[in-house]
Amino acid sequence: MDILILGAGGHGRAVCEAARDAGFAPRGFLDARAPLPDMLGLAVLGDEAAHDGGPLLIALGGNALRLAAAARMRCALPVLLHPSVIRAGSAEIAEGAVVMPRVVLGALARIGRLALINTGAIVEHDVVVEEGAHVAPGAVLCGGVRIGARAMVGAGVVIAPNLSIGADAVIGAGAAVLADVPPGRVVAGVPARGVD
Ligand SMILES: CC(C)(COP(=O)(O)OP(=O)(O)OC[C@H]1O[C@@H](n2cnc3c(N)ncnc32)[C@H](O)[C@@H]1OP(=O)(O)O)[C@@H](O)C(=O)NCCC(=O)NCCS
Repeated sequence: MDILILGAGGHGRAVCEAARDAGFAPRGFLDARAPLPDMLGLAVLGDEAAHDGGPLLIALGGNALRLAAAARMRCALPVLLHPSVIRAGSAEIAEGAVVMPRVVLGALARIGRLALINTGAIVEHDVVVEEGAHVAPGAVLCGGVRIGARAMVGAGVVIAPNLSIGADAVIGAGAAVLADVPPGRVVAGVPARGVD
């Protein structure tokens, strides 16, 4: 499928490579900072006004930014599932979600719209990741965990089974989360405690 990528930053580059691996044919980037130099052999065609209505991969690192862009652009938002992902047959993935290399999605895992499951994360059975959330590289979500909308789970985090992370919460890199985290809180450390 021919596709445009919104966001020509570091995450845009990662999405471009993953999209090629997954059989998409990226045609170029859109970026609010255009004009920008070509990247990975593709032109940065302009800002959002250069969108021709075709399908888009939204490659903005900010969780709320991805959701807001999708609301403005109103086009097809394909799922990007890297071919190295190990996905249980019963795992569900909603539109616009990006699942990067070497992720594991367990039985009945549910990945929300425009969520980002980054490199090597383990999303165990019955986990729910709500829309726009980001699970960073190497994070481990044990069975039954729920990640609220737009929450950010940092790199290398471990979340113990059946816990709930509230919407817009942020979990610092390397944390061990052993209790529920309320919406909007910032926690870090082992065990995780508030740092906000
Ligand atoms: C938790 C985090 C969001 C806090 O950022 P911040 O609000 O700018 O906070 P600060 O850097 O001012 O740190 C506040 C305090 O928390 C501590 N802290 C920050 N991040 C921490 C972490 N990951 N683990 C343990 N302690 C941490 C700081 O040492 C500081 O402690 P102090 O007050 O005793 O000096 C950030 O440090 C972090 O870990 N982000 C996740 C990054 C990541 O994984 N990104 C994925 C990219 S793909």
